[in-house]
Amino acid sequence: MFDAKKFVEESLTEIRRIVGDNKVISACSGGVDSTTTTVLVHKAIGDKLLAVFIDDGLRREGEPEFVVRTLKNLNIRTNYVDAKAGFFNVFKGKTDAEEKRKAFRDKFYKTLGEVAKEEQIEFIAQGTIKADVIETVQGIKSQHNVLEQIGIDPKIYGYKILEPLRDLFKPDVRKVARELGLAEEISERMPFPGPALSLRVLGEVTPEKVAIVRKATEIVEEETNKLGTFQNFAVLHNDKATGIKNGKRVYGHIITVRIVDSTDAVTAKARQVPYEVLTKISERITKEIPSVVRCLYDITDKPPSTIEFE
Ligand code: XMP
Repeated sequence: MFDAKKFVEESLTEIRRIVGDNKVISACSGGVDSTTTTVLVHKAIGDKLLAVFIDDGLRREGEPEFVVRTLKNLNIRTNYVDAKAGFFNVFKGKTDAEEKRKAFRDKFYKTLGEVAKEEQIEFIAQGTIKADVIETVQGIKSQHNVLEQIGIDPKIYGYKILEPLRDLFKPDVRKVARELGLAEEISERMPFPGPALSLRVLGEVTPEKVAIVRKATEIVEEETNKLGTFQNFAVLHNDKATGIKNGKRVYGHIITVRIVDSTDAVTAKARQVPYEVLTKISERITKEIPSVVRCLYDITDKPPSTIEFE
């Protein structure tokens, strides 16, 4: 049985031992893994930690403001880094899922490297958990935050990596978050991938396509937040379909809605969501996002699918 209290105590000692007198940056996206890491490291070394929220332009509606506010309310020194233009730049012309993920990873670590250099920082703390490492090492997909485990030396970006949660699965991370006194909004937060909406825009990622999937995501979350499912989201397809808007034929976007139950993201089941909920989502998405003409529901489990489309 996992003992969160003991884990926290041992982690604090270990973090202090590794870090010594050095300073640390924590890359915090606001998810349960990275926020728990940030709070744990802050508890260990106080103001020697600087939390960094990188705004890559791929976050959900209102998320950048939420994350910065949450960290500041926890009295953690926090920097907001506006890197939106740079991220969209690296996605130009890229359509393959793994190529996109690698482009995201490289830009992400380079951006952190710039902050680390400015602040003369030795370590980057990040919320890598066991499932990220397993899936990457097994070749299912290269999670953006796995470096050393696949032979990438983080020194090329100019720092060392600190991953206090790397041996835990999600349910135990949530226990640690509760043990640290984090609000339910964080400890029970729905998982959201590091490369964010870039994985949910199939094909090339552009600001226009991200805006569409962001709005669809907001609608799906609003209509399903009482279901208690593991992950609920929208995906924008790369191809188009015929539809009718204002009595005329149009060739428009396709959105797929995915709602799954899981405990650790290693396997997942598509939820049998009440049909009325799906109808409401479809009506709202096609009405509130004029360029979308078709809305689909994904009924595939993991395996054989993965949770994300990319
Ligand atoms: P899949 O799609 O592999 O996802 O079934 C398993 C869990 O991981 C999330 N995910 C990612 N998280 N970087 C992340 O930090 C990634 O590149 C990435 N890809 C998938 C996904 O949302 C799910 O919770």
